[in-house]
Amino acid sequence: MDRYAVLGNPVKHSRSPRIHQLFAQQLGIDMEYRSIHVELGSFTDTVRHFFLAGGRGVNITVPFKQEAFQLAEVHSQRALRAEAVNTLLLGKNNLYYGDNTDGVGLLRDLKRLSFPLQGRRILLLGAGGAARGVLAPLLEAGPAEVTVVNRDAGRAALLAHAFSDLGKVRSAAYGDLSGSYPVIINATSASLSGELPPLPEHILTQGGYAYDMMYGAQPTIFMHWALQAGAAEVHDGLGMLVEQAAEAFFLWRHQRPDTAPVLAQLRAELVV
Ligand code: ATR
Repeated sequence: MDRYAVLGNPVKHSRSPRIHQLFAQQLGIDMEYRSIHVELGSFTDTVRHFFLAGGRGVNITVPFKQEAFQLAEVHSQRALRAEAVNTLLLGKNNLYYGDNTDGVGLLRDLKRLSFPLQGRRILLLGAGGAARGVLAPLLEAGPAEVTVVNRDAGRAALLAHAFSDLGKVRSAAYGDLSGSYPVIINATSASLSGELPPLPEHILTQGGYAYDMMYGAQPTIFMHWALQAGAAEVHDGLGMLVEQAAEAFFLWRHQRPDTAPVLAQLRAELVV
């Protein structure tokens, strides 16, 4: 049986095994996908062991995406941009091939939700790995501009600079923000600790769109904030999670699952 895994620390609460199980059921494939808790310092050994033992592919989650990037011997363009790898497989000549499906996952979900991106001003909150992973495809969607805002404004400036060849991207500190944005995407980890980035009032255009890359059984604090701020549409990152998984599945098996029923099933299981 083909074997896959997600490696992380912590990884116990990962929804990836369930998502891939649902993909496999849908396509009538007999495969195994489990989660592996990896101690800090043993990521490389764990990956090598997994593939030596016949494993077909792994997903990588916090905090190993940069280590996976180092381990990969061949990278996709989007992994090179993100400087992070969330999907590994053994490619040509038995070399580790690393890809990053997070960005395409977000864009597919935004497309599903009919978020208007083209010609719009987009505010991207955060300048960590999550923001870096989605900046390239966001710029490729043809917005008027993307503003990257971060508490540590220097980090935002570095990120904006690194992607400036792909479109109009600038950086800001929260205190510098002015005007309003019709689309705000939260790529910070603030929701995980129940915190709200220090956004100024009226920063979301009335009737605007808000997306939190985090998700949970309940709407995140950022989603509550956006609704109160007059958003027309507010969504969490569960759809992005399913879409990035579908892209990884496609890389491994060259078959594309239908994500809609899997997302619906996951949503139902999340709120139970
Ligand atoms: P990830 O890989 O998930 O992006 P990270 O690299 O640790 O994780 O980055 C976390 C991001 O969330 C950073 O942009 C961080 O801002 P700083 O760089 O200024 O620390 C942001 N973040 C975390 N908690 C936040 C909060 N309460 N308000 C605003 N931003 C927050």
